[in-house]
Amino acid sequence: MKIAPSILSADFANLKEDIIKAQEGGADWIHVDSMDGHFVPNLTFGSIVVKAIRPHTHLPIDCHLMVENPDYYIQEFAEAGADYISVHLESTPHVHRALQLIRSFDVKAGIVLNPATPVSLLEDIIHMVDMVLVMTVNPGYGGQSFIPETLNKIKMLDKWKKEKGFDFLIEVDGGINPTTIKACAEAGAEVCVAGSYVFDSSNPKERIEALKHAVRDSD
Ligand code: DX5
Ligand code: ZN
Repeated sequence: MKIAPSILSADFANLKEDIIKAQEGGADWIHVDSMDGHFVPNLTFGSIVVKAIRPHTHLPIDCHLMVENPDYYIQEFAEAGADYISVHLESTPHVHRALQLIRSFDVKAGIVLNPATPVSLLEDIIHMVDMVLVMTVNPGYGGQSFIPETLNKIKMLDKWKKEKGFDFLIEVDGGINPTTIKACAEAGAEVCVAGSYVFDSSNPKERIEALKHAVRDSD
């Protein structure tokens, strides 16, 4: 299981230090939440933050775009140093084109599903994605509670993947702690985003280790 701490819950006045703490604490990826105040009710930041943190970590930077018309921002995120760019099925009018565009920059392409969006809607594009991100909360804020009904979607994706031989990664995002990560791992998740659990602590390393320890048996 890969752990991707979300900088949404980091200390923005000490972002570089928090990223280094996460990296030294065993993080596998760094997750970046870009929100536009339209697709989701919250407003965060754009590619400028990816550009700023890129020189300070060797970890893959995983960009989750919670914005309307993400197509407009794909190039700038790619040029800023993103390794993964994920767009929401619900906010992207031309999903096929957006995924092609991400891949044209040699960046891994992810598709994101809100808790109410069924996995079956991915049928015609699943062969084009490097990752499916299953939202386990409604996007917009850190610190929300895990929605257990989303576990079924992880299981369906895992089954689909195995039956058809796809190699996309299954990522989950929202409400991850040692209890929920175990359930996600058992359902088939391979990458877990964790924001508040990792950064609402003076010791992110301890928190990352607790997450890894919770899934050791499921690996
Ligand atoms: C929610 C974001 C998440 C968020 C997770 O809209 O996509 O990445 O930071 O935060 P926690 O882990 O606190 O639920
Ligand atoms: Zn996210």
